[in-house]
Amino acid sequence: MSTEHIHPIFDRLLSREDRERQLKQRSKVLWLTGLSGSGKSTIAQGLEHRLYNAGYVAQVLDGDNIRSGINSNLGFGLEDRRENIRRIAEIARLYLNSGIITLNSFISPTIEIRNFAEEIVGASDFIEIYINAPLEVCESRDVKGLYKKARKGEIRGFTGIDSPYEAPLNPALEIRTDQLSLEESIETIFEYITPLIKQA
Ligand code: ADX
Repeated sequence: MSTEHIHPIFDRLLSREDRERQLKQRSKVLWLTGLSGSGKSTIAQGLEHRLYNAGYVAQVLDGDNIRSGINSNLGFGLEDRRENIRRIAEIARLYLNSGIITLNSFISPTIEIRNFAEEIVGASDFIEIYINAPLEVCESRDVKGLYKKARKGEIRGFTGIDSPYEAPLNPALEIRTDQLSLEESIETIFEYITPLIKQA
């Protein structure tokens, strides 16, 4: 077949650098991992506002939202969690190439699953942040009442109860939410990432 009428447009597509220049920032993928109830979503939401007020374009990608939309066909077995994270990492990569910073808030429970996400995104753009509160603290908060249900056996395979959570071995940052206030947690991350997202 002739390629006479096929006109590739790759050389005319805007590059990530073009988009970053327009947005006056460098894009990154922030990956917040931690137990349910550790504070990931609350911190991500606060950080999104903090970045917005400082003039950055950032977008939260969150477990509960993504799981009610694009990943509504996935459950909580390890294979489905891996597929959940694979799709999210691909989405985060699209944002990355659009020049937008993403704040990804997912349990992402195993080292292997997070390595997989890092591989998809690219190591130089992937910033792993461990949102850490002891299980007892997360369980006592029980914001969604899910730990109670998991203890009663009404939810099976709940992370930290009867499904594993492996803490990151070497995160870029660890935030102890049982020791820091929400504002301190947000500010610590904001200060850490500012040099990485600022245009030179
Ligand atoms: S992940 O393990 O695949 O990364 P994700 O962050 O998307 O999980 O979703 C976690 C959220 O789903 C929890 O905050 C909780 O509200 C809900 N959830 C429902 N069932 C489970 C379960 N078995 N284990 C953990 N979280 C669950």
